[in-house]
Parts: sequence; structure tokens; C-alpha cells
Amino acid sequence: MKGRSRATTHGPSFLRWAGSKRKSLALLGSSYRDPTRHYVEPFAGSAALFFELGPMVGTLGDLNGHLVNALRQVRDHAAEVHRRLLAYERSPDAYYAVRNRFNEGSRFGIEAATDFIYLNRNCFNGLWRTNLAGSFNVPFGGHEMGGYPPLELFQDCAKLLRCAKLRHQDFRKTITSAGASSFIYADPPYFTASERVFVEYGKRSFGEEDLSDLVRLLVEAEQRGAEIALTYNEAMPVPAIPSHWHVHSFSVTRNVGGFRGSRKQHGEILYTSFELPGVLE
Ligand SMILES: C[S@@+](CC[C@H](N)C(=O)[O-])C[C@H]1O[C@@H](n2cnc3c(N)ncnc32)[C@H](O)[C@@H]1O
Repeated sequence: MKGRSRATTHGPSFLRWAGSKRKSLALLGSSYRDPTRHYVEPFAGSAALFFELGPMVGTLGDLNGHLVNALRQVRDHAAEVHRRLLAYERSPDAYYAVRNRFNEGSRFGIEAATDFIYLNRNCFNGLWRTNLAGSFNVPFGGHEMGGYPPLELFQDCAKLLRCAKLRHQDFRKTITSAGASSFIYADPPYFTASERVFVEYGKRSFGEEDLSDLVRLLVEAEQRGAEIALTYNEAMPVPAIPSHWHVHSFSVTRNVGGFRGSRKQHGEILYTSFELPGVLE
């Protein structure tokens, strides 16, 4: 815990998110060494590290407009979103009805946000996946999801979100806007052909060109004075990582092929533009 209050750890996110590194938050959090730095997450997802750290000032960006709307609505109307969420029925029929309404409706406002959170908490494995037309198509996840987070967690998340700019935008814009006193934590989607369906977050996959733009922009941000932390799949070398960056291995548990029953350990790399004392390289 580094940010606002060093005495306590903040709670988890109100969202589930495929690819979230919840279990590695202690390691990742140790890279945010200076809580006065502007915390920037260009691939926010469930913003697990943001909620863990509770930075004093931050920017969360994501290309998923439904996600950014949900972050904004929870920031502004946490209790009402929570009240509505609890009023939704949890059954396959109700799930598919909400999914239809969500796909036909607006991505703005409180109902869209509640639908998004309901789908996120009740869909198969917290995945976000759309068909080519952009419609969310993840099936109902069954009844093993457990209860919703309590109101207090939504309210804690809202409090932290009030300290952040929430941007629906491409990572390039978020990183280009990051100033000298920023700390940038980049957790991009994987680029893998074999697991394509489970690593897609929108209408198109994150490709090689995206990855090389990402590294180039992070290096430029570092040259302006920003500190950088980047996580990526160990099995896929990231091109053009500067030789002075530090490389730390860690592992996360993943559901193989998206199935809960077949979890396996999977290697990740944390690249930092600075030395992380006490962490083995
Ligand atoms: C691996 S997830 C991030 C998970 C996050 N660290 C968490 O705690 O849940 C990657 C995120 O990148 C977003 N994304 C994909 N392409 C993007 C782009 N070009 N610009 C910004 N965000 C993008 C996806 O919508 C997804 O939320």
C-alpha cells in the first residue's frame, strides 16, 4: 500500500476482469514508489492496482466505452448503481434479457452501467468478448459466482475514482498526455493467435503494431521523466525493451481456455524503467 493512506490496504475492484493480476498486486504495487506521482493506467480494465494503491491523483484510460461509463457512474452514483444491481434477478433468462438490452441500448448512463456490472459479475469468467458487430456475447456463467461486493466497496471505489480522470480513449493518447511526474502502469491485452477469443477485448485484437507503439510511447514518456512499469506474457518477448529497464518474473494463475476447472500457473514479466529494491531479477 503506497498511496493515500499507508496504514491500510484498499479493497479490490467492483469488477471482475479477465487478465486481472489481482494475486500479484503486492509486487506490482511495490513499483509505485512515490505516491506524489500522477498514477496513469492506459489499459484500466478493472483497475485492480489503482484500487489497491488508492493514488492521490491519477488517470485511467480504456478503449472500452462501457467500462469507462461504469467507472464514471460508480464514481458519481455508487449507492444507486448498487441498489439497482441488487434488484436484478440472477438467472439465465434474466441474464440474456439484460444482455439483449445492453447490446441494443446506449453505453451512457446509469442503466447501461448497471447492466455492464451485472453482466460482468454474472458472465462466464468475467470475460469481455464481442462479436464482429460489437455485441457482447459471453454466456451466463452459472451460479458459482457468489454474492455481489457490498455497498461499502462500491463507495470506497467511488471515493478513489473521484481522484482520477476517467478517459475513454486509446492508450496512445493516455500515454502521450502523461507528464514528467507520472508513474505509468501498462497492462496491455496479450497478442496471441492461439487464444484469440479469450484475449480480445473489442472489435479487434491488440496487434504487433500496437505493442511496438506502446513501447515507443513508454520510452518517450520515460525520457520526459515518467516512471514506467509494464507487464506482459513471459512467453512473448516484447520488442525493443530498452536495455536499462529491469526485468522481474512472476506468475499468475489463469483459467486455461477460460475454464475455471483447469487453472494453471503462467509466467509474466514485470518490466520497470527503474530498479526495484528487494525484488529478484
Ligand atoms: C489486460 S486488460 C487490463 C487489466 C487491468 N490491469 C485490471 O486490473 O483489470 C487490458 C485492457 O486494455 C483495454 N484495451 C484494449 N485495447 C486498448 C487500446 N488500444 N487502448 C486502450 N485500452 C485498450 C481493454 O479494454 C482491457 O480493459
